[in-house]
Amino acid sequence: MREIKICMGSACFAKGNQENLEFIKNYLDENHLEAKIKLTGDLCGDKCEKGPRIIIDEEEYTNITRQKLEQILRNNL
Ligand code: FES
Repeated sequence: MREIKICMGSACFAKGNQENLEFIKNYLDENHLEAKIKLTGDLCGDKCEKGPRIIIDEEEYTNITRQKLEQILRNNL
């Protein structure tokens, strides 16, 4: 099963992952992907200065903006 991990450390969360989490949830719902993709939280990965950070499968993405996130989801899911 594919997996999206979203950094829930305080820096990433404050820098946008709170909104990004909502966005991802809605995206999975709208595209009927919830059964295929596991969405979990990740602990701080010591890359707070590059946050917000998410991981899709083993690939890590940093400095996630809403626009970048949308593009990443479109290209990878
Ligand atoms: S809070 Fe996300 S890397 Fe530290």
